[in-house]
Amino acid sequence: MFLSFFEHYFYKSLDNTNDEVKKLNMLKKRNIGVFTGFQRKGRGRKQREWESSIGDLACSFLIKDSINVNDLGKINLLIVNSVINILDYLGVKNIQYKWPNDIFIQNKKLAGILIETTISKKIFNEFVIGIGINFVPKKIKNSIPVISLSELNCKVNALKVFFLISFNIHLFMNSFKYIDYGIISKNLTKVFFSKSKLLTINSIHNSYKGNFIRITPFGELLIEVNGDIKAISYGEIL
Ligand code: BTN
Repeated sequence: MFLSFFEHYFYKSLDNTNDEVKKLNMLKKRNIGVFTGFQRKGRGRKQREWESSIGDLACSFLIKDSINVNDLGKINLLIVNSVINILDYLGVKNIQYKWPNDIFIQNKKLAGILIETTISKKIFNEFVIGIGINFVPKKIKNSIPVISLSELNCKVNALKVFFLISFNIHLFMNSFKYIDYGIISKNLTKVFFSKSKLLTINSIHNSYKGNFIRITPFGELLIEVNGDIKAISYGEIL
């Protein structure tokens, strides 16, 4: 019997798709994809709120695969690159990548990705990829400027994008070992959102100010700090 890579679940509304895949995971043996028409309690990195409206894309994928901690950066590259390629295919112009996993257009946030993992002995046994894309304009003023696909005249529905993402994840998970991460990191370097400004980066224990060099094939942010080159694996650009 042919089994698709993900078992998909669809909800009219939900509190949170990342939590829902984790709940379903206790009952199911397969990889899981969850889509909701309306997410009520979305969260972003650092426990920030992620606001969705009816019509936005809020979805999560749980993948039961063991990957090494050091490969998490590659998963990040693959998922960001997939979402960028899908947006490009849908005709979205001037896509900007803000490391580690945000997508901006005209310096406004369009999409965010939240990867959550459970770890045992330096191996992730499963991981959750949560993706939010704004499809409809936001009424509430956000702390950072946001933009939606409808403001960019991109008329597509969230469910179609969910299937495109699901298919892309299936493809890259099946060829994880054979992918040329050099090409992907070059693509992301090309569309990096702020190549010439001094960046401030909060990492786990340190804060850095430096100039962008490139994204590495391991998903690190390479910057130049007072003549030294630093590769940052975790953190965020302020
Ligand atoms: C960020 O910008 O910090 C990441 C935002 C991720 C939002 C998506 S929406 C679907 C999934 N469910 C959540 O609560 N968060 C992710």
